[in-house]
Amino acid sequence: MKQYDDVWKSDNIDMHFKAEIPQKMLELFKQEHVKSILDLGSGDGTIAVDLAKQGKIVHALEISNEGIEKTKAQAQEALVSVHTYKQDMYQPLPFKNESLDAVIAFQSLNHNILPEIKKLFVEITRILKHGGLFIMKVANFNSLNLKNLENGLYEDSHGGISCTLRFLDKQTYVPQDGPEKGLIHYAFLPEQLTEEIEALGYTQIYTEILQWHILAMFRKN
Ligand SMILES: C[S@@+](CC[C@H](N)C(=O)[O-])C[C@H]1O[C@@H](n2cnc3c(N)ncnc32)[C@H](O)[C@@H]1O
Repeated sequence: MKQYDDVWKSDNIDMHFKAEIPQKMLELFKQEHVKSILDLGSGDGTIAVDLAKQGKIVHALEISNEGIEKTKAQAQEALVSVHTYKQDMYQPLPFKNESLDAVIAFQSLNHNILPEIKKLFVEITRILKHGGLFIMKVANFNSLNLKNLENGLYEDSHGGISCTLRFLDKQTYVPQDGPEKGLIHYAFLPEQLTEEIEALGYTQIYTEILQWHILAMFRKN
């Protein structure tokens, strides 16, 4: 993915592209003795390496070659082991059924159309153990601040960055300029996300509406 290769190649990464580790997630991992974790769209590996430093078995899956290389370098520097997979997360995931304690995805499940994202949710459900955790931070549709420019174009000024979006349907859009130009985005509504995941046999255990995202944590029944 060219846009993210450029992001991870840069020495001056905009923090907008990187999530912070939620404290609530660390508490849950501790309480529930989580050992094995898959980080989907793991970026430059900062979160994966942090979790590995805490003694977790971490699998980092990322489509950007630059991201994978940075992950390997960060793991080597921290003297920890992170299993890396350079792969499109929308292809079958290289894990056995019910083999992982947790799957996390921070700001990475947004770059596809909803039917493909829903297929990925099913695949995640296949590889998670019963009682396993699915934790994600996804774009919140409610945080978009849209001004209609007509001809299917909208100006969005959320996050202090103004950019023109072309909508493909109500919640799917493609920025026409800025660092994510040409990259498809899907933004969820909080109640919709809960419904989609609970329908697959999960119970929601935590939600937080952040400035531009929804942080949601589910347990597989
Ligand atoms: C905004 S960054 C977040 C990175 C990391 N999760 C973090 O919070 O620091 C999104 C990441 O998802 C990756 N990504 C997007 N679509 C992907 C796909 N189809 N398969 C694998 N990785 C993908 C991008 O390459 C990028 O590194």
